[in-house]
Amino acid sequence: MEEKEVLNLEEASALLGVSTKTLQKILREEEVPARKIGREWRFSRTALLRWLAEGDSQQYSAAEQNVREYFDQLAPEYDATRVKCYGNDLRNLLMDKVAVTAEMRVADIGCGTGYLTKALAERAEEVMAVDASREMLNVARREMEKADLHNIRFLQGAAEELPLSSDDYDLVFANMLLHHLSDPGEALREFCRILKPGGRAILTDVTEHRHTWVKQEKSDLWLGFHAEELKDWFEEAGFVEVNVEKLGCDCFTTGSQGQSAHIPIILATGKKREKGR
Ligand SMILES: C[S@@+](CC[C@H](N)C(=O)[O-])C[C@H]1O[C@@H](n2cnc3c(N)ncnc32)[C@H](O)[C@@H]1O
Repeated sequence: MEEKEVLNLEEASALLGVSTKTLQKILREEEVPARKIGREWRFSRTALLRWLAEGDSQQYSAAEQNVREYFDQLAPEYDATRVKCYGNDLRNLLMDKVAVTAEMRVADIGCGTGYLTKALAERAEEVMAVDASREMLNVARREMEKADLHNIRFLQGAAEELPLSSDDYDLVFANMLLHHLSDPGEALREFCRILKPGGRAILTDVTEHRHTWVKQEKSDLWLGFHAEELKDWFEEAGFVEVNVEKLGCDCFTTGSQGQSAHIPIILATGKKREKGR
């Protein structure tokens, strides 16, 4: 059968291997060859494949490796940078809102140097801490040994393809991970898979903003998130009782050219459906 040359949004998303939500976001932020006719997007298969093979999309497909390399290099100084961004406020607010109890198995995805991991290990039975960057994990291991916490397992792995069994965790946390992922929806589906029925995913990240320099300087792939798109991604991943709200603190970040940004932090939670409901 001859392949169609003119594609709609769904067909273009399938060609690129991303969800329609992700493609809409990429359309807002990248120079994708596309035309909007009324409210509908139209794409040329040839132009899209050329864009995929060359130009900007290479930046996109190499992005995940770049993110890992960025954090490998940043690892030794990450904690000092993070303290200036949101200090302990975020963790304290989050621990006040989410009950983590002594019988729980919890996962911290994109755990970095263990900012949330430590607070979770102090409260839960066991913490599975996963990160793509080996160097961030090395710092985290050292920090948790210093803190004498031994109920944590560290694993190097990708949020989009977690090396963890299904139906195993009571809570899954991810702080400031999502804006580094090319397809956040994929990670949310993985969070849902590894949760026990009735378990919850708890995600904190920055709200939508216009500080484009963070893409070059901080390896961010997304300029934050709208409450509505987070809600849609959660629901598409299979979560129910989805709630998105402001957490009550900001992320403060600075760039090499004197730029600075105060960005409110958003908290999104969702529950994995109970069996038979
Ligand atoms: C901004 S840091 C946040 C670290 C930690 N959650 C915190 O609150 O300090 C983002 C972390 O996500 C990790 N990361 C980025 N992409 C990832 C992926 N695809 N899978 C797993 N971890 C990833 C990075 O290596 C980094 O440690």
